[in-house]
Amino acid sequence: MKNLHIVGNWKMSLNKEDSIALANNIKSISKKEYLNIEVAPTSLYIDSIVKILKESDVNVISQNFDYKTLGSYTGGVCLDQLKEMGVTKTILGHSERRSKFNESDEQVNNKLETVLNSDLDVIFCFDSYEQIPFELIKNNLQDNDNLKLTLAYEPTWAIGTGETASIDHIEEIHTKVKNTLIDHSLENIPILYGGSVNPSNSKDILSSGNVDGVLVGGASTKIDQLLGIVNSI
Ligand code: 13P
Repeated sequence: MKNLHIVGNWKMSLNKEDSIALANNIKSISKKEYLNIEVAPTSLYIDSIVKILKESDVNVISQNFDYKTLGSYTGGVCLDQLKEMGVTKTILGHSERRSKFNESDEQVNNKLETVLNSDLDVIFCFDSYEQIPFELIKNNLQDNDNLKLTLAYEPTWAIGTGETASIDHIEEIHTKVKNTLIDHSLENIPILYGGSVNPSNSKDILSSGNVDGVLVGGASTKIDQLLGIVNSI
């Protein structure tokens, strides 16, 4: 069995009480050897969730970051603060950041360069092949053998709509990305799929060629659905 990643993006979907209840429920998930499970709570509660999941098999990651170090950036979150909380990875460039918070490709790519040169790992989201800055990645990724960078294909039309991409479509995009990664000698970078993943479609998606995991929104905020996805493979 290949190594697989299941990442739950809680977005801004849960209040504190529900975030803590969910974390307490997932604390006892014991992962299979080939599975890496991560959840991304809102940064407001990240400290509490890290404490709850400290001894568990589930890692806590961030949904986003703004800068590398402390500074006068009202409302911002920096990588050093996340590291201080015990967080070792962040999502970046989610389509909701791009469309609802107006983060441009240039801003996202600048942040990618920043995080690739930091102590944190990153999941870089893209909704089209053209959005992946392969040269930037090649120039800033020191080691192709670790999990410093993960890519996540999330077609905007499949996010939160219940309309999952077909397996053929997922395989087509993932294979195109994988082939370009191979051309750049970056073939070890995992590629996740996200967009209306649920317990009914997760097995087929996770078994697809060049799919190394799933990035799950809505279904990851409900314990029975998250468990259903984890247990589907
Ligand atoms: P849904 O699983 O709710 O479609 O969200 C996908 C997503 O945006 C994960 O980052």
